[in-house]
Amino acid sequence: MIRRNFLKIFGWSTAAGFVGVSCTESTKESSPKIKAESGPSQPIIVSTWKHGIEANEAAWKVIQAGGSALDAVEKGVMVTESDPNNQSVGLGGLPDRDGNVTLDACIMNHKGDCGAVAFLKEIENPIAVARKVMEETPHVLLVGQGAQEFALSQGFEKKNLLTDSARKAWLEWKKNENYVTPVNVENHDTISMLAIDKAGNMSGACTTSGLAYKMHGRVGDSPIIGASLFVDNAIGGACATGVGEMVIRIVGSHLVVELMRQGYTPQKACQLAVERIIEKHDSVKGKQVGFLALNKQGESGAYSIYEGFNYAKQTQESNSLIDGVYIHKWSD
Ligand code: GLY
Repeated sequence: MIRRNFLKIFGWSTAAGFVGVSCTESTKESSPKIKAESGPSQPIIVSTWKHGIEANEAAWKVIQAGGSALDAVEKGVMVTESDPNNQSVGLGGLPDRDGNVTLDACIMNHKGDCGAVAFLKEIENPIAVARKVMEETPHVLLVGQGAQEFALSQGFEKKNLLTDSARKAWLEWKKNENYVTPVNVENHDTISMLAIDKAGNMSGACTTSGLAYKMHGRVGDSPIIGASLFVDNAIGGACATGVGEMVIRIVGSHLVVELMRQGYTPQKACQLAVERIIEKHDSVKGKQVGFLALNKQGESGAYSIYEGFNYAKQTQESNSLIDGVYIHKWSD
């Protein structure tokens, strides 16, 4: 019995009205300090790191053709997931310490609907599975074997995601088994994307193969709504990159959005979230976390613990890489 039938038998079908689980807070009361734009605004896309440039291009085509921000962020990050040369996302991602490539992803739309997968193996585009979780099940998060079975029932195909070069890098790492993996420019770990479409609606997506050489079974922030990603269509959205454990502890992206609700700019909200991480940890030495935020007015900002974090911003005018602001240099 395929999963979909199972859901139908138990009355959890679309017709039963359970699909599209909302996990946003009420946005009816807006803060007096911020006025959310109503009606259409200028489309814009922001995404983490240099690989965001190509991802933005694909997402922008969707937006330009009149597509939704949800379609745009899904199609955008799929470019990175399917790039075998990118060693931190999807196909070609560096494996865990036992040689397994395991993927985490989540997606959230302007209505607060969200879906996610974690510890997913052998499926090239986890973000598309996350969207299916959001649209075809009454749940928000599926993990491991259950997530894979669900993906197969939805028509996704199994694929070996461990490329020769990722396998070689893993075998090289195994010679020393150094479990400390700094997330810096070379090991950028995640693509997260936020987009506003022509109708003025915002969606976001986040996807990763997680920290290289992590413990088998480890799941980071990327499939955790509120940690790696949060969208409130009245206020804006935020997403995270870096050491997921530190992001989860402060529910980082939700914090950034709530700070924007209080009237802070995206830049300042990201800074305050980074400062909260520093305040809550005995030491952040050698550990990178960055936040990227976009408000409903189309203003963006990024802030990280260490230098090197940047983001790609696509507007009508250009698709360009912008350096985030940071606290420490790696040489500190
Ligand atoms: N931020 C990605 C991870 O920690 O897995």
